[in-house]
Formats: sequence, C-alpha cells, structure tokens
Amino acid sequence: MSCSVELYLPFVAVLYTGTMSDIDDFDGTEAELVAEDAQPENIEEQSPPTLEEQAATVLLQNDKGTYTSPDGNLYPHQWLWDSCFIAIGLRHLDVERARTELASLVRGQWKNGMMPNIIFSTDPKYRTDRNYWRSWINPHSPDDLATSGITQPPMLAEAVWQVGQSMNAAERRSWFRYMLPHIISYHEWIYDARDPHHEGLALLLHPWETGLDNTPPWMTQLHEHLMPSWVRAIRWAHLEGIIGFFRRDRHHIPAGQRFSTLEILTLFDAQRRLRRKAYHTTKILDHALFSVEDLTFNCILIRANSRLQDIARTVRHTLPEELEANMAKTEAALAELWDPYAKTYWSRDFITHQLLKQPSIASLMPLYAGTISKERAEELVRTLENQNVFGANFPVPSVPLDSPQFDPDRYWQGPSWVNTNWLIIDGLRRFGYNDHADALTESTLDMVAQGGFAEYFDPLNGKPLGADNFSWTAALTLDLLDTK
Ligand code: GLC
Repeated sequence: MSCSVELYLPFVAVLYTGTMSDIDDFDGTEAELVAEDAQPENIEEQSPPTLEEQAATVLLQNDKGTYTSPDGNLYPHQWLWDSCFIAIGLRHLDVERARTELASLVRGQWKNGMMPNIIFSTDPKYRTDRNYWRSWINPHSPDDLATSGITQPPMLAEAVWQVGQSMNAAERRSWFRYMLPHIISYHEWIYDARDPHHEGLALLLHPWETGLDNTPPWMTQLHEHLMPSWVRAIRWAHLEGIIGFFRRDRHHIPAGQRFSTLEILTLFDAQRRLRRKAYHTTKILDHALFSVEDLTFNCILIRANSRLQDIARTVRHTLPEELEANMAKTEAALAELWDPYAKTYWSRDFITHQLLKQPSIASLMPLYAGTISKERAEELVRTLENQNVFGANFPVPSVPLDSPQFDPDRYWQGPSWVNTNWLIIDGLRRFGYNDHADALTESTLDMVAQGGFAEYFDPLNGKPLGADNFSWTAALTLDLLDTK
C-alpha cells in the first residue's frame, strides 16, 4: 500500500472540490441536465474509490485539526483508545499527522500520570459535557483543558511504537524520547492508583473505562446488585420510555443498538459518585458502584508494558525498578484469572475476588497480551474456530453466539468490532496462527467493503450498525490492508 501523504490529501481534495463546484455551477436548467446526459463518458472515466481511498476520506472528514473525532455526529471529542487506533492507521497516510494525534492526546494527561478517556472539545456548544465531568475539581487535571476523570485501555505504548515503525531510525529515537516520560508516568499511575493491594491486576471503577461499555460481566453486576434505589424507582414507575426520549445517542442510533435507559442511568450514578470524590481512587473505593479487575484492560496493559520496555530499550533508558517489578507481577497475575474447568479467562471482582463468568470477547484478549502458554493459546483459538462460540459469518462477535446474553445488534453484546478484530489478529500472529490471522483479516476487510466504515456490525449478516464513518474502523482498515 502506498504510504504517501500525496495519495491522501489530493484525492480527498479532488473529491470535495468536485462536489462543491458541481453544486455551485448547476443552475437547475433543463439544458444543463441534457448537456450532462450527452457526456456519459466523463462519468464512466471515474473509477470508484478504493477501500483505502474511502478510509482516507473518513479520517479526513473527522479530522478536527489536532485530533480525529470518533465520528462526525455522536462523538465530537477526543477519546483515548480511539486516538491510539486512529494513529496506527494514520501513520500509513501521514506519519506527521499520526504523531500530532498522539501528541494532542498527552496534552490531556493529568499531573499524576492519569490519561483520561475523553478530552473535551473547547467548542462552546459542549459546555454541558465539560461541566458534567468538572475535571478541574481535581488538582492533577490539566490547567487549560477539560477532560473526563476516568481512563480507558492503555493502548498508548502500542500506538507510539507502531507510529515509530513508520519513521527512520533517528526520527524514531527522538519520537520515543518525547513520548517515553508520558507512558512511564501513565503506567506508574495505573499501578499506584489502580492496584492498591499490589496484586498485579489493575482495577476499573466504571464500565466506560473498559472501552467495551455494556459488556456482559459488567452489566450482569449492574443488574444483579448495583442498580441504585432511585433507578429502581424509575423502573417501578415505568418511566424509562419518557427519559429515553431525551437521550442524545437515541437521536442518532436505534434504541436496540445501545444501552437500556436503566443501565445508562446507573452509569451516570456511578460517574457522580466518582465526581463527588473528585476522582481520587483511594477515596472512591469505599463508595464505588463498580470495582472490577477487567480482563481486557489487564491484557492490554501486559502488552503495553512490553511495548514500553521495547521503547525504553530503543533509546537506552532504564525504567524505574518498581515499575519493572509491577509489570512482572501483572504478567504472573493473569494466571489467577484462568478457569481450568471452563478452560478460559474471566474478569474478577476486586472486593470478593470472584471470577465474573459471563462470556465475552475479553476471553480472547490473552492472545494479544502474548504471555500465556501455547497450550492455553490453543484452547482460546479453538473457541474462535467453534461455529457455536465465536465462529460467526462475520467474526468476531463481542459475545459468543451460544451465550444467553448474545444480541447481534446491541453494542458490545454481540456485534463485531474492527478494533477487537485487530487485537485478535495481532494475538494470533504472536502465537504463530498466521492462517487464522490472514482469514480474520480477509473477513474483516470484506465486512467493511460490504457494510462501510460502521462503528460495529451484525456478526450474522454483516449489517452495519451504530455510527457511520467511524474513525477507528477506517484507520484499522488501512492498517490491515497494509499488513495483508
Ligand atoms: C463508545 C465505545 C468506546 C469508544 C467511544 C468513542 O463509548 O464503547 O470504546 O471509545 O464510544 O468511540
């Protein structure tokens, strides 16, 4: 695939100018329509844009200058793991722009190292979003930017590493030197703030931190014992319908593809509890609704730790001893999430230490972590092949097909997502399953070629769902095309 910026900008520029001048020139007369009819060969000359060109267009449409929003409507701000995936794709078009994407992400880093999952747009029309989080109540938050007060899977080290691979050796070293302190302080914060008992596993306080917002292990906890009394009162009074009418996401996406209103109200309640304690983890722990040692997050952390070591090695930097010790502990602690009877990994409740045994795509993430034994990797690959589990027509469903919680249209409860496919493809290659990785790359690209750059897809028929022109779908398509 061509890596040049020349392909990116002129192609899109031609596309835009073409459309605008057509509209400007057209005066609506019949003569003009006839004249256009008389020149069909002009139309025939234009070949349809390739998948690569279409992906570049999506990224350009969502480009806000220094960051790329996840889509053009529903998500106007900068999201943490979205920007990491976006940079991984953008590097094939314009490595400078990919650097800017990540550099603008670390502008939002808190002084204690925390990387927030959202950096809010400064546009006056989003004042409500900024006020809702009020990040400025915590002294560590950045002085000149409003952010959320929670994090998301730590994809930063991977993205920095991947962007570095598109540079020459000297540029790469200076890029790594620039980003290294940010990654170190982020990982140190994860251990300080989110591993208070020094178990080696990071805990999350809100489903939004998982990136897989309504994934079954978290939603089961919510329904079984975390719904606050005021939300239960709303259920009792059958008021969900009226409240749901005011939801912003419902103006863009059908209700059946998102959280239920009772779930979203519980999530807001959980967020308010965090805000009341100004996002200080130690003060929050006694009052938090959720506290889970999340499998996906910890697998991504293990991989990010090893990317951090690669980056440090490249620039001959010695990582702090305590951080190295913590990183080693996480690798070992993953084994505690293995269930020898079900032959799979689960997330774990931080307080009770009970494994949360609701199946989801998280069970495949230890492949991406890359540190599990060959035997366990083989067990996981078997579930990927199994037609009743993850073997859908348009893989990989975010919940296994045979799970009672599988719903083909609902967000992280069934649909296939391009980012999780990308993580699984990478994991398969690490364990030498190259044929499986190639097959999943092909089916992912087919799904996008057929359905467009949707946020997620129905795994049974490939129908595009959620937001359209979604940035990480476009960016990771570019990366998959390149590594094919
Ligand atoms: C949704 C997704 C999350 C993503 C965000 C922005 O909340 O669940 O993973 O980061 O949208 O795209």
